[in-house]
Amino acid sequence: MLVGGLLIFGLIGAAGVALQQAVRRTVRLGAAVSAGPLRDDPAYAATLRNNFSSITTENELKFEIVQPERGVFSFAAADAIVAFAEQHELEVRGHTLVWHNQLPDWLRDGQFSRDDLLRILREHITTVVGRYQGRIAAWDVVNEAFASDGTLRDNLWLRGIGPEYIRLALRWAHEADPEARLYLNEFGLEFGDPKARGVERAVSELLRDEVPLHGIGFQMHLALDNPPDPVLAAQVMQRFADLGLRTDITEMEVAIQNGAGSEAERIAAQAALFGVIARICAEQPACQLFSVWGVADHYSWLPAHTGRPDAPLLFDERYRPKPAHAAVLRALEGRLARGP
Ligand code: XIL
Repeated sequence: MLVGGLLIFGLIGAAGVALQQAVRRTVRLGAAVSAGPLRDDPAYAATLRNNFSSITTENELKFEIVQPERGVFSFAAADAIVAFAEQHELEVRGHTLVWHNQLPDWLRDGQFSRDDLLRILREHITTVVGRYQGRIAAWDVVNEAFASDGTLRDNLWLRGIGPEYIRLALRWAHEADPEARLYLNEFGLEFGDPKARGVERAVSELLRDEVPLHGIGFQMHLALDNPPDPVLAAQVMQRFADLGLRTDITEMEVAIQNGAGSEAERIAAQAALFGVIARICAEQPACQLFSVWGVADHYSWLPAHTGRPDAPLLFDERYRPKPAHAAVLRALEGRLARGP
């Protein structure tokens, strides 16, 4: 009896350890992807396959591309990215359903009643999420809905529908794919209040009302001349984790154009900052994705955005891993999700 009891106890104990190891949290390494280079540049596709386990559509699922004319949907580019992901077993993040940028002219310039806008938004979300049901694991349902003071940003959706556009969008996305993880995606949360507190308040209300929301995306568009305080950034992440949300890093880059020192020094400082943020993610169980905004430096959006050359990503223009790549791997060590 006693022996049997010990035996059973021993077996359960061993199974417990094995289970713990099996469910040990891993972090996916992700990148934003464009259909053009994916099709035309074999080294781009190879770098993606060999190094990443999550991809985000950089532009291909934005409103202006998906619905260029009212009621006319165009999925060719997004389809190509999703097919690549399926072929290579990469998880896909759909970006993004509701945003103030990259809206088609018909929508931006149209004069719509509230009912019209509600219909437009519902049809858009239902069609896009429905098309990829079971194939896109996570959606940035609403992108950049908050202003820097933590209030809702003034945009077409807020003006035309009211603050409830956020919860409606989440509910419609959930109806279209009940399995998909749904996110609000924001920049600047890592700098703390007042924005972080405002988002936290809004999110608490959504959760109280059982609105389907599963994560906050920390975009993390960083620059060497303005790094966040890592202790504060980790605290903010913890506050959202305490609400039961995933706290993934969704769009990281580190601009080096405004950094101090030589190019080599800036590349080293970039690696250090990437490492600091990756460590915050590694130490936070709710952070299960560390994703960068582009595969290699020459495809970064930043030079077009700032008007100045830059090199903000993990691979250089010849697809060689940069010091930042090693720093991220070191920080995520032991946690990195098995590649594709
Ligand atoms: C950017 C793309 O990378 C560019 O190609 C496009 O011209 C503009 O948008 N935050 C976001 C992303 O959420 O959608 C933006 O992507 C970068 C900033």
